[in-house]
Amino acid sequence: MKTVLQIEASMFGEHGQSSRLAAALAKVLLQPGDHLIERDLARDPVPHLTAQRFAAFTTASSERTAEQREVVDYSDGLISELRAADVIVLGLPMYNFGIPSTLKAYFDHIARAGETFRYTNTGPAGLLTGKKAYVLAARGGHYHGTPADTETPYVRQFLAFLGVRDVEFIYAEGLAIGAEHKVKALDAATANIARLAA
Ligand SMILES: Cc1cc2nc3c(=O)[nH]c(=O)nc-3n(C[C@H](O)[C@H](O)[C@H](O)COP(=O)(O)O)c2cc1C
Repeated sequence: MKTVLQIEASMFGEHGQSSRLAAALAKVLLQPGDHLIERDLARDPVPHLTAQRFAAFTTASSERTAEQREVVDYSDGLISELRAADVIVLGLPMYNFGIPSTLKAYFDHIARAGETFRYTNTGPAGLLTGKKAYVLAARGGHYHGTPADTETPYVRQFLAFLGVRDVEFIYAEGLAIGAEHKVKALDAATANIARLAA
């Protein structure tokens, strides 16, 4: 029995292409008895990290105000989903050459010293080890394998920082080029998803 955490970052919610691909992959991965956790960042946006919110993280738990406890409880809830997950399935749109701001706000609430990473003498060490992640990347243009693909190295680095090093990307690119191109790209991504089930 495993737990799959499906994270959708498309502003179009379940209708986004990255969300559709993420849902298709989660469906393929889920076996009877497995558990699915869905985190839709369009439906339930994570607030921007502010100095006040960050102060809540760094204040000793015994000294937190009621407001700070609420902030930490919220972040703890997001982190507990990640801890529970054996597999993370992330739908990743590209908006204005980078990751959606909603996803960045989520990342800012799950990178917590002492919770998801810790500092050691040799640098930071991720605490979310033993997990596999799949990233379903949807883009209007073509970026994969070029320096303009800022998303792949960034998401890889961020997940590795938390201890998630086994990460596989599936791309659906050129979705804005034309109808025929879009169908081909989505079909290819769907075939890659099916290949993972085989
Ligand atoms: C506001 C906005 C900005 C976008 N910026 C880019 C971009 O910089 N590069 C690109 O290739 N596609 C861009 N696109 C196209 C999206 O990457 C494409 O529609 C993709 O399907 C988005 O994923 P989603 O359908 O899961 O939301 C943009 C789309 C929107 C709505």
